[in-house]
Amino acid sequence: MDSTIFTRAFDRRVRTLLAVLGISVVVGGAFGTHTLWQANLEQGYMPAQPIDFSHAVMAGKHNIDCLYCHTQALKGPHAGLPTVSDCMKCHKEIQTKDAEGKLKHGLARLNEHWREKKPIEWVKVHDLADFAYFDHSRHLQPHTGLWCQDCHGDIEKMDRVKRVNSLKMGWCLECHMQAPTATTPAGWTTRAPINCSTCHR
Ligand code: HEC
Ligand code: HEC
Ligand code: HEC
Ligand code: HEC
Ligand code: HEC
Repeated sequence: MDSTIFTRAFDRRVRTLLAVLGISVVVGGAFGTHTLWQANLEQGYMPAQPIDFSHAVMAGKHNIDCLYCHTQALKGPHAGLPTVSDCMKCHKEIQTKDAEGKLKHGLARLNEHWREKKPIEWVKVHDLADFAYFDHSRHLQPHTGLWCQDCHGDIEKMDRVKRVNSLKMGWCLECHMQAPTATTPAGWTTRAPINCSTCHR
């Protein structure tokens, strides 16, 4: 007596189907979690930094120009970060003490890096995948009317930098496809190319 109800070939097909289903659930689940999770994680991402550097103090209260520290923003793809010796152009003099008369913690850390000639390893807040191309200087043109806050939010009010936009493809495209409005000054460009090779080269 044969106990199998179905033929072997059918059994094999069922097993293959189950295997395929299993794999798609695992892969699909991982992919879905990756995309959704990333999207949630990346917008609002606000990592701790090795030194509590406050844009609210330096760019806000003391009104130091963004380009004083991010010197490359008008010149090329990357805005650039200041080096320890850039910081020391001011902080050789500015050595503020706290209420207890001790040197402020952040400044003590900065002095340490200066003495030991050790660069500060800032944690990146904005970081596109390598397959996407972005260029600051192409955006910061008189005819675009764009400035830092349009993409980075009110950095001059932040004690710790936060990523206010997702930097996902949809975010780039939304702006690139924007039509001029009644208040767009004459001569400004709001639209930009949306063909794939603009950003994926
Ligand atoms: C005194 C120097 C200084 C000034 C002025 C300054 N920044 Fe920064 N900026 C830094 C340093 C240092 C970091 C890295 C540490 C951090 O993220 O807080 C940074 C980080 C950033 C980042 C995040 C970089 C990343 O990792 O993605 C953005 C965006 C930024 N600054 C924009 C601005 C804007 C906009 C202004 C003007 C309103 C400005 N900064 C003024 C020094 C400066
Ligand atoms: C059109 C949107 C846009 C504008 C305007 C803009 N940024 Fe950015 N910024 C980005 C994007 C996107 C990244 C991530 C780039 C990457 O990872 O390749 C970035 C990254 C940065 C970084 C970290 C990496 C780097 O390029 O050094 C700093 C610092 C920064 N921006 C500062 C500024 C400052 C200062 C201004 C104004 C002078 C500015 N940005 C204007 C979109 C913008
Ligand atoms: C153009 C001058 C200038 C530059 C460049 C500069 N700072 Fe400052 N920084 C200031 C001033 C002004 C203050 C406010 C001092 C005060 O409150 O008495 C300050 C305050 C600070 C504080 C103390 C903040 C607080 O109140 O707790 C830290 C930490 C600091 N800076 C770190 C840095 C680092 C790190 C860099 C380089 C990435 C840097 N600064 C570059 C001018 C500068
Ligand atoms: C707030 C609006 C805005 C956002 C957000 C934005 N862009 Fe742009 N982009 C522009 C404008 C405006 C231009 C300039 C068009 C011109 O000069 O005619 C431009 C130009 C460019 C160019 C140069 C195009 C050329 O002519 O070759 C590239 C590359 C680019 N953007 C990539 C990106 C990427 C990648 C992102 C997202 C990470 C992004 N942009 C986000 C508005 C934006
Ligand atoms: C204005 C800039 C821009 C244009 C135009 C653009 N992309 Fe993207 N693309 C991006 C950015 C930014 C990302 C996200 C990079 C990251 O996550 O760090 C991205 C991501 C992707 C991804 C990875 C999946 C994802 O959604 O994160 C694919 C696939 C892709 N783009 C294909 C395309 C194709 C195909 C076109 C043309 C129809 C295109 N892109 C046009 C900027 C652009």
